[in-house]
Amino acid sequence: MITKPKGCHDLLGQEAKKWKYVDKVIDDLMEKYNYNYARTPIFEASELFHRGVGETTDIVTKETYDFKDRGDRNITLRPEGTAGIVRSYVENKLYGEPGPVKLYYNGTMYRYERPQSGRDREFTQFGVEVLGSDDPMVDAEVISIPVLLFKMLGLKGIKVKINSLGDKESRDNYREALVKYFTPKIDKLCEDCNERLNKNPLRILDCKVDKDSDILKKAPKTLDYLNEASKERFEKVKEFLDELEIEYEVDTNLVRGLDYYNHTVFEIEAEVEGFGSNNVLGGGGRYNGLVETLDGPETACMGFATGLGRLIQALDLEKVEWPIYDDVELFVMYVSDTEKKYSASLVQYLRANGFRVDTEYTGRGLKAQFKQADRLKAKYLIILNDEDLKNDEVKIKNNKTKEEELVPIDYLLYYLDEHLSEEDYELDEHECHCHDEEHTCCGNHHEEGHHCHCHEGE
Ligand code: HAM
Repeated sequence: MITKPKGCHDLLGQEAKKWKYVDKVIDDLMEKYNYNYARTPIFEASELFHRGVGETTDIVTKETYDFKDRGDRNITLRPEGTAGIVRSYVENKLYGEPGPVKLYYNGTMYRYERPQSGRDREFTQFGVEVLGSDDPMVDAEVISIPVLLFKMLGLKGIKVKINSLGDKESRDNYREALVKYFTPKIDKLCEDCNERLNKNPLRILDCKVDKDSDILKKAPKTLDYLNEASKERFEKVKEFLDELEIEYEVDTNLVRGLDYYNHTVFEIEAEVEGFGSNNVLGGGGRYNGLVETLDGPETACMGFATGLGRLIQALDLEKVEWPIYDDVELFVMYVSDTEKKYSASLVQYLRANGFRVDTEYTGRGLKAQFKQADRLKAKYLIILNDEDLKNDEVKIKNNKTKEEELVPIDYLLYYLDEHLSEEDYELDEHECHCHDEEHTCCGNHHEEGHHCHCHEGE
């Protein structure tokens, strides 16, 4: 038997429904924020990630899936989404449009990591990128997206951590301070850190080997090296976060593992019992300068990405109620082959009219069809037999109460609408499931057309 590669998953059954539900909430939310969906290739020229993500990052030095294609080109499976979006922004000259360009993506990424809980080799990221604005308001807006998303999905235990790396001048000063600090201590750190010292000392701070060492903990802090303009900018970002009532903690050790960041960086941790050590649900920051590195014009940018696997794991641990169907509304069954053709067209008709319908495909007898209907948790059974059809009627059975009725075919849709809507249908709209008494996630807009399920006013 051929098995799936390490660190990859098959997505099946109820698990797959959870993912599709999260996708839908993301799409709805992005529509509200007016961010456009963007899809870039899963593989790109290797050079894009070397130049974009950074030659000295763990991602590029240790984790990329690289290969030569049949045309002898160096290709890499994308380890993250930002570099591809920036490449596309430059290649398609999106900077020509009045900015900012606000994009989102939701797709698979590939990193050759040691597989463990929350760390896969193939994983899915939802991310956003705003290209063409240096306004601190954008930084706060981008941070607000995962905060609101997580809340809408019902996740309560999150912690937002922010920091600032400052502009180029501040980063250069900081770099100098790090080299000075680490040089006399470097032989106590791992081999990779020794290499990082001169190439990119900032990377020492996110070393996975030495992460708990006191030397790292006592290292100089970015905030002490910010120049006035960078300090002022960071203050403004915090003011906007306060304005949006987003709680955060300033974490001066936060530097992130990719090279393109400057000014604001942030991460959101899951504070959920039972969650493993890979508890960072998402992170991002400002990357003014990356567009130029990838041959575009000077462009200020800000973005973030979240790993959907970790997010769904956190939601499961918090035991959120998933608003997903595990049943069908109708199961159409037939007494003999005589009714089979009619059953096919009836199923088609009912589906086209918006019902969730299944039927019998394997030639089972009536008794086995009843069993199959139970397995599928059908709410109503439509039992076709020739006699009834001759009278333009069908037999409908409520699978719970076991009550049966003969219903004229002309009246069928009306009957089903009537009877199925009596059931508790909370799943038809998915816009807000926070059940939060203060309605902080939806702003308590209960006007017509807003499908909030917070149950206020019930
Ligand atoms: P990142 O921190 O490398 O940032 O990844 C973002 C999120 O992707 C992580 O917080 C985590 O939830 C998830 N993730 C990363 N690696 C794995 C893995 N091996 N298995 C499962 N989940 C994983 C970025 O990728 C940046 N591009 C974010 C960004 C966008 N910054 C600006 N714009």
